[in-house]
Amino acid sequence: MKVLVVGNGGREHALLWALSREDPRPELHATRPNPGMAALAEPVDLSPEDVAGVASWADEAEMDLVIVGPEAPLAKGLVDRLSDRGVPAFGPTAAAARIEASKAFAKELMESAGVPTARHRTFRAFSEAEAHIRREGAPVVVKASGLAAGKGAVVCQTVDEAVDAAREMLEADAFGEAGRQVVVEEYMEGEELSVFGVSDGEDVRLLLPSQDHKPVGEGDTGPNTGGMGAYAPLSLATPELLHIIRDRVFRPTLDALRQEGCPFRGLLYAGLMLTDEGPRVVEFNCRFGDPEAQAVLPLLESSLMDLLLPVAVGDRLSEADPRWRAGSALTTVVASEGYPGTYSKGRSVEVPEELEDDRGILVFHAGTGSRDGQLVTAGGRVAAVTGVGRTLQEARDRSLAGAQRFRFEGAYFRRDIGWREFARSEAARP
Ligand code: AMP
Ligand code: GLY
Repeated sequence: MKVLVVGNGGREHALLWALSREDPRPELHATRPNPGMAALAEPVDLSPEDVAGVASWADEAEMDLVIVGPEAPLAKGLVDRLSDRGVPAFGPTAAAARIEASKAFAKELMESAGVPTARHRTFRAFSEAEAHIRREGAPVVVKASGLAAGKGAVVCQTVDEAVDAAREMLEADAFGEAGRQVVVEEYMEGEELSVFGVSDGEDVRLLLPSQDHKPVGEGDTGPNTGGMGAYAPLSLATPELLHIIRDRVFRPTLDALRQEGCPFRGLLYAGLMLTDEGPRVVEFNCRFGDPEAQAVLPLLESSLMDLLLPVAVGDRLSEADPRWRAGSALTTVVASEGYPGTYSKGRSVEVPEELEDDRGILVFHAGTGSRDGQLVTAGGRVAAVTGVGRTLQEARDRSLAGAQRFRFEGAYFRRDIGWREFARSEAARP
């Protein structure tokens, strides 16, 4: 079995790690792997976004499965190109990936399918957006419609802030093409959770729910990032709640995409807000979450390949639900100081060898590179260090102990990942 993983961040390292534990172990390949991934996979020197190049390489090298990690190649049609060549690929087509790549498309689809989400309006003209914001008042949320690496949503506490955000996007071009259309939406209050569903276009299997931490600072302060840490599972996500999420969010969304002529085969990620009126969608993504995958995949006991391969070859999902190991996982992202703003690259990284062998700690590389054989930083989010334990507390202790030992100048990480869950268990104590 030959598998290519497209992408080279923490999520893709976690995917490779899960695949490397399959029995029999597949032959693994990855596009421009980071040094952590390179230990598990043969490098393919192509950019993940070079869709024509990757499709022709995968075809010629006779890959049995291609798993596309990030949204950009999906939105650019990598899976369409692979399918044209008959290469089995896990991930949605470009048309189905619009559920993430165009917030305007996603909002309209949800509205027509009756999926609970924030009320919204879409604008191309700044003057109209401004008039709408002034009518609606604050708090309100202004979003670039296109892909913006998790940084395109601005939660505004005042009307002026919202007007400025819309101006930045529509007139100052702050997000380029992605911000030519903005979505202005109702502010929702509640706790957020991430639910992944693997779908064959019709049916869906939900994975273990997790919770991301988007703001850069402890206590959820400061600007939003791609995610500073995550844990799984959450006590809030009861089986009853997951049923509701499947029936009111996943099923109608998948049905609507099928009716639109673009069935979604791949991983649909629902970012949800648990409001007083029940779960409502904040956003959909068309791929595994990063860093949620680094917390969810280590708890998967059954085979990842058995889950993804049927979808990739166009079969129906197997009847079996994925199985999970008992316990919890918590991942802490070690970032470069300054992220999500400007930060330095090329700083030497020291990782003690025994850290790589510690069974309760998994180090997933994200923005790392190598220079003259030395591990160096190469991105904002440098690594995700996951602790796995019998309890969330144990998982956190291991994650923090690992993060502490992933050293470079200006390393920064949040020490409070999972704080909501810990506060809940405190509150539940007599
Ligand atoms: P998004 O890029 O759409 O995932 O938004 C990023 C973050 O902004 C979310 O994880 C939420 O914390 C926040 N957010 C987005 N939309 C809303 C909304 N309608 N109400 C409240 N918070 C929101
Ligand atoms: N962690 C958020 C995302 O993957 O979009």
